[in-house]
Amino acid sequence: MATIQLDRVSKAYEGRGVLQDLSLTVEHGECFTLLGPSGCGKTVLLRLIAGFENPDSGSISIGGEVVAAAFGESLPPDRRDLGVVFQDYAVWPHMTVFQNVSYPLKLAGAKEAELRERTQRAVDLVNLSGLEKRLPSELSGGQQQRVALARALAANPSLMLLDEPLSNLDANLREEMRFEIKELQHKLDITIFYVTHDQEVALAISDRIAIMDDKGIISQIGAPLEIYERPANIFVFSFMGLANFMPLRREGATLFVGEGGQVFSGSAPADGDYVLGFRPSDVILSRPGKEAARPGMVAPGFLRGRIKRASFLGAMIDYQVEIDGVFLRTELESHFALDEGLLFAEGEECSVALHNMHWFTREEAAKEGVRI
Ligand SMILES: Nc1ncnc2c1ncn2[C@@H]1O[C@H](COP(=O)(O)OP(=O)(O)OP(=O)(O)O)[C@@H](O)[C@H]1O
Ligand SMILES: [Mg+2]
Repeated sequence: MATIQLDRVSKAYEGRGVLQDLSLTVEHGECFTLLGPSGCGKTVLLRLIAGFENPDSGSISIGGEVVAAAFGESLPPDRRDLGVVFQDYAVWPHMTVFQNVSYPLKLAGAKEAELRERTQRAVDLVNLSGLEKRLPSELSGGQQQRVALARALAANPSLMLLDEPLSNLDANLREEMRFEIKELQHKLDITIFYVTHDQEVALAISDRIAIMDDKGIISQIGAPLEIYERPANIFVFSFMGLANFMPLRREGATLFVGEGGQVFSGSAPADGDYVLGFRPSDVILSRPGKEAARPGMVAPGFLRGRIKRASFLGAMIDYQVEIDGVFLRTELESHFALDEGLLFAEGEECSVALHNMHWFTREEAAKEGVRI
């Protein structure tokens, strides 16, 4: 069983802590994604699991067996039953596809017949059949990426560690490879530990996601929908997609939008000033005088705004709306806007309502450095 268990793992370089007391469990057969901003410690964690580095404290178990602990022997990478694809995927330029994929098996001393069979199987699995004799320079970026994947799969590991394996691909290829990785996971019944800073990839492929902040601390672990809909804090919310932040100022029992005079009629969780977080798709625009309530909307809650900028993006229209000095990104489906008479020109007045809002205190926003 390819489970991973990290128990209070810490790692520092030259006295600077990267990971502190990090604990998490990855179940067998799941695609678990570690998502976080650049430099937060994702690759360091992956290297610890793979066995290229040792933790300063804490322990790491794979399949129930302790493979690394601060004191005591650690199991070398080649005995951890895992395949690794690194961030820069590093296929050897002077070796053909076949030689690249079979190289780890050769190192491990596999017999010729077995080496051939396993290599061919891995090459077939990633849809590179027919290209075995090519050099990497004769392959596209996506194909080179598949070579790296096949190389990691050749030894038939039950655990795959993938470090940002799609970062060098264009958007279409990235999407295609995403599906292929998912398919491999199911077909081979392997556990995948996937590292990325791309929230879209994480949402698309993961059974569960762990969000790491820039201090190397895990803010939340959960299923994609759970993380997106119920972020544990303002960092998670702002990291998971385009976000609007609307400051609310309290005077007595009343909340006002920004520094202006419009009353915000939703009820706050407690006293104090707040910052409301919501996605562009959660802004509901109407024509003044033609406001209509919609499900999930904060009622009555219509604010007066003005269209500052209108960008037609094909399927969507991206309006920038100003409400008393607060600027919001909104998006509307073009067909819907056309049908509902919501094609606004720049400078026109509009009514704004919201749904799916998240309440954050001003202190939390300031602490996380969220620009409002
Ligand atoms: N061998 C090392 N010696 C010193 N510092 C290191 C070493 N490896 C990593 N670091 C530092 O640890 C921190 C985390 O690095 P890491 O490579 O894990 O980031 P990351 O989350 O993978 O970022 P990215 O998304 O850019 O790949 C960085 O500040 C980095 O400079
Ligand atoms: Mg990295």
